[in-house]
Amino acid sequence: MLYKTILSAAVLASSAFARPTSQLPADGFPNPDAKQLSSISNAASGQLSNAPPPPALNASSVPIFQLINFNENFEVAFFNSLIHNITTGVSGFQMPFAQEKKALLSVLKTVLAQEELHAINAAGVVGHFGGVVPAPCVYKFPTTDLISAINLAETFTSLVLGTLQDASEGLSINGDHGPVRAVGSVIGQEGEQNGYFRNLLNLKPSEKPFLTTSIAEFAFSALQDFVVSCPFDIASTIPIPIHPTINVLNGTYAAIRNESLTFTTDLTNVTAAQPFIGNSSAVTKGLYMTYFTGQDAPVSVPVANASFSGNVLTFSAMFPYHEFVMDGLTLGALTTSGNLSSPAAVGAATLAAPALINIANHIV
Ligand SMILES: *[C@@H]1O[C@H](CO)[C@@H](O)[C@H](O)[C@H]1NC(C)=O
Ligand SMILES: *[C@@H]1O[C@H](CO)[C@@H](O)[C@H](O)[C@H]1NC(C)=O
Ligand SMILES: *[C@@H]1O[C@H](CO)[C@@H](O)[C@H](O)[C@H]1NC(C)=O
Ligand SMILES: *[C@@H]1O[C@H](CO)[C@@H](O)[C@H](O)[C@H]1NC(C)=O
Ligand SMILES: *[C@@H]1O[C@H](CO)[C@@H](O)[C@H](O)[C@H]1NC(C)=O
Ligand SMILES: *[C@@H]1O[C@H](CO)[C@@H](O)[C@H](O)[C@H]1NC(C)=O
Ligand SMILES: *[C@@H]1O[C@H](CO)[C@@H](O)[C@H](O)[C@H]1NC(C)=O
Ligand SMILES: *[C@@H]1O[C@H](CO)[C@@H](O)[C@H](O)[C@H]1NC(C)=O
Repeated sequence: MLYKTILSAAVLASSAFARPTSQLPADGFPNPDAKQLSSISNAASGQLSNAPPPPALNASSVPIFQLINFNENFEVAFFNSLIHNITTGVSGFQMPFAQEKKALLSVLKTVLAQEELHAINAAGVVGHFGGVVPAPCVYKFPTTDLISAINLAETFTSLVLGTLQDASEGLSINGDHGPVRAVGSVIGQEGEQNGYFRNLLNLKPSEKPFLTTSIAEFAFSALQDFVVSCPFDIASTIPIPIHPTINVLNGTYAAIRNESLTFTTDLTNVTAAQPFIGNSSAVTKGLYMTYFTGQDAPVSVPVANASFSGNVLTFSAMFPYHEFVMDGLTLGALTTSGNLSSPAAVGAATLAAPALINIANHIV
């Protein structure tokens, strides 16, 4: 029913427009006092853990929590903007049925408060172990209607669900079993959110048997596309590589099957890409499109039909949907090898990423 409501909301037009508002909720976030924190906890249906922090954290694990914090800050601003748009009836976000509007807002307000606590928790870990806590940035959202916004929420939540796998593995490699239980609790929590978003979009709530993996640098790179400016220097504060993202000319949500897709990316600032710039035959000989889908080993296919416009590369590559049953989110990376055995190896060979390809499996 909500799906129908959202569809009808999308076709409504109105002269309402967004009044400029702060991007952050007016509840003290990211530094609420005790009273504000208690009210956020009530809205979130639960509170920050009162258990003591682990006695120590490997310095290599600090960026893991900086990235979680950086991402959650974005999510807080996104859901705050979405709630504002729905509440005030911004054009494209109007919901004609009061009861359904009330239900959606009630869920989104809980999600917002939960994301605030995720951010505050990650900031607490970073600060406790001497790292620089990333303050909220100023963001731009590409969405101007309810369905696109829920679609985007679904896509970035899937990306986060893959990236938290990388966070757990990273903590384990760094000898930090302490926070793994809490990260696991957030993975399930974000999965619950995404099941709801997917249901709103008439997608099956459970996306895949094994959710698509990601790596920290892919999430960090994708987030840059939403950032206008931050009150700190991103690259020197959070030591995670940033790649140019890849646009899918066929559209992120297209019902793509076993076909070739066309991609474009700007390699201007990529040192390792300089030998390839302007040389299409070097690209088709030496570069690959490498996909993360589910928990499969990285899937590499050759790059074809490369062309340059300045430093901007356009190329095609097969999207082997049938062979790997690529429903849901797939991430693509432009890599210098076509034989990569692990997610970390893909990161080390990446020139540009991620491409976000999200194949719908609708509820019939
Ligand atoms: C809220 O509406 C404004 C105005 O259309 C838009 O720019 C912004 O992206 C919307 N927010 C979200 C989260 O879609
Ligand atoms: C800290 O993490 C690094 C990188 O994973 C690892 O090499 C090192 O052994 C870890 N230190 C401890 C005490 O586990
Ligand atoms: C993807 O887009 C390219 C460029 O617009 C087009 O040539 C190609 O046919 C499209 N592929 C699919 C599967 O739509
Ligand atoms: C390349 O780096 C410069 C300097 O940081 C920046 O202004 C520019 O936007 C970057 N270009 C791309 C395509 O990333
Ligand atoms: C383009 O790259 C190929 C290697 O794939 C190389 O043989 C050729 O000399 C390069 N062409 C130019 C103009 O640099
Ligand atoms: C490259 O272009 C040719 C000619 O348009 C087309 O037949 C071929 O399918 C393309 N390859 C890919 C991988 O898109
Ligand atoms: C997918 O497309 C490739 C190239 O056109 C073809 O060789 C392969 O048989 C196709 N697979 C399926 C399952 O359709
Ligand atoms: C792929 O890499 C593995 C080692 O990681 C190696 O054993 C294998 O021969 C390589 N395959 C190809 C086709 O290069």
